[in-house]
Amino acid sequence: MLDKIKNAKNEFNNYIKQVKDKNTLEELRLKFLVKKGTIQQLLDELKNVPVEQKPLFGKELNLFRKYAEETFENLKVQFADKQEVNKIDITLAGRTGYKGAFHPVRQIFSEMISIFTDMGFEVAEGPQIEDEFHNFDALNFQSDHPARDMQDTFFIKSYRDDNKLLLRTHTSPVQIRIMQTKPPPIRCIMPGRVYRNEAISARSLAEFHQIEGLYVDRSVSFAELKATMIVFAKKMYGANSEFRFRPSYFPFTEPSAEIDISCFLCKGAGCKICKGTGWLEIAGCGIVHPNVLNNCGIDSEEYSGYAFGFGIERVALLRTGITDIRYFYENDVRILQQF
Ligand code: DAH
Repeated sequence: MLDKIKNAKNEFNNYIKQVKDKNTLEELRLKFLVKKGTIQQLLDELKNVPVEQKPLFGKELNLFRKYAEETFENLKVQFADKQEVNKIDITLAGRTGYKGAFHPVRQIFSEMISIFTDMGFEVAEGPQIEDEFHNFDALNFQSDHPARDMQDTFFIKSYRDDNKLLLRTHTSPVQIRIMQTKPPPIRCIMPGRVYRNEAISARSLAEFHQIEGLYVDRSVSFAELKATMIVFAKKMYGANSEFRFRPSYFPFTEPSAEIDISCFLCKGAGCKICKGTGWLEIAGCGIVHPNVLNNCGIDSEEYSGYAFGFGIERVALLRTGITDIRYFYENDVRILQQF
């Protein structure tokens, strides 16, 4: 009996060597592991052996059976048909991939930058953590002037009391950094993120974006500023859009103006968005104040310049027709996907 078990085991091992796919594995199963297979036959024979030999043969046979079954299970995994495991229905309609896109605010940035660079402006950047000197003093904000309160500033706790650090409230300090390092002529745009301690609402955020512009050369005039702004705005908003220049005040420009575009929603008739005026403000601009040039070491007798600043989210609202600025940053793809 022991010899029979040994022979069966040898035979089994020889079979294993020939197993190379699902079919040959099935042959192995049919030969050894089914009801009429070799192992069951040997178990049946166990009945006929003398009682005292039963434990020894029984043990050997059980070991062999266990070995055969485990080997079979392992081979089954090895030869499992992958397609059967994760059944793929090739007749199903495919899932199309999700196509990403630039955020609308980023798209506006790119478009504005390309219009201005076509007009000969270079692109420059400055730090988002600024100091009082660049953000206010050099821009002609007097220390006790209420204009400082126009921009609710996030100050940064720091070891110094003079020239405190802050999150820049506008991109205008980049003007200063450029003028301090580069002699005229200067023709630059300065895109970037700015921060103000504002209550968040449909019209304002505490963190938003601006593009600053600066042109400094000999005898730069307000007429040139106006022409540049109109050429830009017509390219950006279409040849039929209407603009107006409204006198305004900024410490760093004199004279100063704000540029309005006729309201995209009511087309000038007056609505909630334009607060009934028919106009929406898109930029501030003006002739660079002589004090600002002098603060940067540029002789205001010899040079003059113009500057402008656009709020990007405002432009993006006009462009997309979205009426609540918060939608831009709630990351709801159903909204962002549309642009
Ligand atoms: N810095 C101004 C602001 O954030 C915007 C601005 C107005 C920038 C007039 C300019 C300018 O360069 O000439 O409100």
